[in-house]
Amino acid sequence: MCGIVGCIGKGNAVPFLIQGLEKLEYRGYDSSGIAIYSNGKIRVVKKQGHLKVIKEILKDNNDFCAGLGIGHTRWATHGNPTDINAHPHVSACGKIALVHNGIIENYIELKEELMKKGFLFKSDTDTEVIVQLMSSLYEGDIFQTVKNSIKKLQGSFALGIICADNPDTLIAVKKDSPLIIGTSENENYIASDIPALLSKTDTICRLQEKQIALINSEGFKLYDFEGNLSEKKLTVINWSIDAAEKNQYEHFMLKEIMEQPRAIKDTVYPRIEGKSLKLDNLNLSKEYLENLNKICIVACGSAYHVGCIAKYFMELLIRKPVEIDLASEFRYRSPIVDENTLVIIISQSGETADSLAALRESKRLGARVISIVNVVGSSIASESDYVLYTHAGPEIAVATTKAYSTQLALMYILALHIGKALNKISDEKYESIIEALKNLPENIEKILEGKEEIMSIAKNYYYYEKVFFIGRNVDYAVCMEGSLKLKEISYIHSEAYAAGELKHGTISLIDKNTLVIAIATQEKLMDKMISNVREVKARGAKILFLTTEKYYEKLKPISDHIVSIPQTYETVLPSLSVIPMQLMSYYTAKFRGCDIDKPRNLAKSVTVE
Ligand code: AGP
Repeated sequence: MCGIVGCIGKGNAVPFLIQGLEKLEYRGYDSSGIAIYSNGKIRVVKKQGHLKVIKEILKDNNDFCAGLGIGHTRWATHGNPTDINAHPHVSACGKIALVHNGIIENYIELKEELMKKGFLFKSDTDTEVIVQLMSSLYEGDIFQTVKNSIKKLQGSFALGIICADNPDTLIAVKKDSPLIIGTSENENYIASDIPALLSKTDTICRLQEKQIALINSEGFKLYDFEGNLSEKKLTVINWSIDAAEKNQYEHFMLKEIMEQPRAIKDTVYPRIEGKSLKLDNLNLSKEYLENLNKICIVACGSAYHVGCIAKYFMELLIRKPVEIDLASEFRYRSPIVDENTLVIIISQSGETADSLAALRESKRLGARVISIVNVVGSSIASESDYVLYTHAGPEIAVATTKAYSTQLALMYILALHIGKALNKISDEKYESIIEALKNLPENIEKILEGKEEIMSIAKNYYYYEKVFFIGRNVDYAVCMEGSLKLKEISYIHSEAYAAGELKHGTISLIDKNTLVIAIATQEKLMDKMISNVREVKARGAKILFLTTEKYYEKLKPISDHIVSIPQTYETVLPSLSVIPMQLMSYYTAKFRGCDIDKPRNLAKSVTVE
């Protein structure tokens, strides 16, 4: 995933391009670059490394200024992070510069065709093929050239394009990767995501699938790929500037952990009306729901872990089979999906390539698709039959926290909605769970108030190189998320394991250098969890127990450290038990001096397969 910015206006575009890229570095940061139109020609500055390298080069270069420009911050997919592979890429004719987010799947054959025509390539990227293709087709009409070029491209591409023969036009193209237009007085912008625009405007237009925008300093026009005029849909964003800033927090991740009460309130409360729910315009008829043969939840990473938890409570509440699949596996296993299957895609970014592909496969097989998405108008949202938006606001840290929590909260609401429609839930249980969801923000606040205690616990274990998370039932699914959080930001090899499964082999790994984080919140499994913890303790492991206030005293004697969460309706406890795991990971990574918001090798949204 990469970050694209562009600007066209009567002033100097370069300061916006730099500031915009700063806000998009979470999308990828292994190289960056800027291209401007200046005095009849294209000028480019691009370098490997974080944006600060470019900023250093440009800081005293007052000559590098122009009203029209594009910028890019890269997460490498084709070609290592080098100066040459950095975007923008410039056509052989020197007239066209282009930045790209996505992957061109047929770039090799296109490259071979162009090389036969005598084109030479400087980079290893798929992106350079696009701009050389345009160069090969350019006869003076850049709009026609863009239309003709994109017809030959297969794959995903959000493009920002400038042409030396058209200094009054900024061109944007969107297929599968996100791109947004920002509008203001005498200046207009493009960006991959909203945070880059917030300092300039709150009025945006998301390019829809397969759209081209011709933008000048007064406004813009939208076209489909055939060149037919399309209607514009402007949206006013109510994200404050600080919503995309760190504010007083050292890291975006801690800010977003602390924002979870607000994010869950914003996500849950608008869907609760008295003692019942109102679920946007989710018009799934009772007949349709009764005919469902199963529900498939498909996602990646933490969103997948939401699905692992949801499987437990959805099957309890709706009494229909619920399957959970990794999106990268789903479409390659010949899934048994048809018009009587409801598919739920969970995705914070709404741009994860594997999840988008799973959505398309599900629809091809006849299923209806509901998506749980945080980014309004994103590709997954746009292609779903129904969208339930989480209202977590911009999530900048690569490691998800508030988006995960709001996804989980929304899945509870969806399960209640379906279970109620099928008359599978008693009024008492229905109202109790709704009440527990309403109390989530307050209960999470209580846990967050104890974050210093978790920090002091992390100080005892941050140097451990072997950590096991063990649990049973939904607690095992929470362990998956706890383990991923720890791995992705502290680089400690950890593993989530079903507590009852350890003795079937893996317990051989347990020794005095092992930290075992045991999550035990389910009453019916408490005694078995105590036995499992005793088994690993007997092998020398250190025990950090996570349980509810109700079992704190009972479990304290067999713990080296113990953390408790408020008691609430048992089904909803996973929404609370994940919070201490987030904090434990955050503080562990902090003590280890890791780059918490931008962990190595990772990007915020994986828009490549
Ligand atoms: C979560 O901490 C990770 N950054 C990652 O697993 C993420 O959840 C996954 O890539 C899915 O992203 P999405 O929710 O945007 O689809």
